[in-house]
Amino acid sequence: MTALTSSHYNRDVHTIGILTGGGDCPGLNAVIRSVTKKLIREGRARVLGIEDGFEGLIHRRVRELSFDDVSGILSRGGTILGTSNRGDPLAAAKGAMATYRRCGLEGIVAIGGDGTMGICHELATRGARFVGVPKTIDNDVLATDATFGFDTAVAVVAQAVDALHTTADAHRRIMIVEVMGRTSGWIALYGGVAGGADVILLPEIPVDLAAVAAAIRKRHRTRRFTIVVVAEGVKLPAPEVAKRLERLTGAETRVTVLGHLQRGGPPTPADRVLSTRFGVAAADLVLRGEWGRMVALRGAEIVSVPIADVAGKRKRVPPDHELIRAARSLGTHFGT
Ligand code: F6P
Repeated sequence: MTALTSSHYNRDVHTIGILTGGGDCPGLNAVIRSVTKKLIREGRARVLGIEDGFEGLIHRRVRELSFDDVSGILSRGGTILGTSNRGDPLAAAKGAMATYRRCGLEGIVAIGGDGTMGICHELATRGARFVGVPKTIDNDVLATDATFGFDTAVAVVAQAVDALHTTADAHRRIMIVEVMGRTSGWIALYGGVAGGADVILLPEIPVDLAAVAAAIRKRHRTRRFTIVVVAEGVKLPAPEVAKRLERLTGAETRVTVLGHLQRGGPPTPADRVLSTRFGVAAADLVLRGEWGRMVALRGAEIVSVPIADVAGKRKRVPPDHELIRAARSLGTHFGT
């Protein structure tokens, strides 16, 4: 881990690529904006936007980004460059390297998750240079306290859980809310706690539905409803959880799948700030010639770590996480 300072810039940087890889995520445009503005203002660099992630690198879909192109996009969801999470870019690594050389790229700022970092790590062995920026609503990138986009997804979940409270109460129902997160439960944990869910099921904690049902039956002696947040990575899918809980408790259940709502729309102010800080730090690394590193948040500080340390690995929720212990102490059920 290295702390960043903005001294000793390499003023000879000429052409830098930028791409967004994997699923989209609120804050991508804010990162594109800050990387590009800083590289143009302080590095006098040409910034080439690579379209649709590594697909654009393979098929040479590249366009120059001007200062004006990236003005006014701070709060916009999605990515002005487009992205893709299909195919295997490494199978076409030759094409990617050909574009890299033809365009005269001195390096690429790659904004993505563990998969994108893995591809960067692999292409680096063929001579390409990368600086990484950790993106994903799932918050599952290793070596950073947070990824940008996570706060926005949590806000969507919290708002949905708030709204479900009143209709659940009116009908004496159990409301099951399925949230994203791939194999990790960060969105479920933070969104569930922020929304005041009564039960939160995470992939990292084994689920005993009989124990959950017993807790719900007890709760319904004094309360009219229960809100259950289920991470998509939990072995039992949300509709099955609903069916079984209905059978075990006798209470009517309904399922809400939040899906891509968690990835759409504008980033929260916190994500705009984090994206801006990450982008500036990534441009700093480029200008200092510190390739092969990913920017990261540690406490209140922005640092950098080797891409090799995070490539292809995922950060999961520790079952004894402080927030889990806090919520348990208030009566929230975690499946066991
Ligand atoms: O990684 C982000 C994420 O939204 C996951 O939470 C989810 O499992 C996946 O992407 C969905 O991907 P797609 O956009 O291909 O449906």
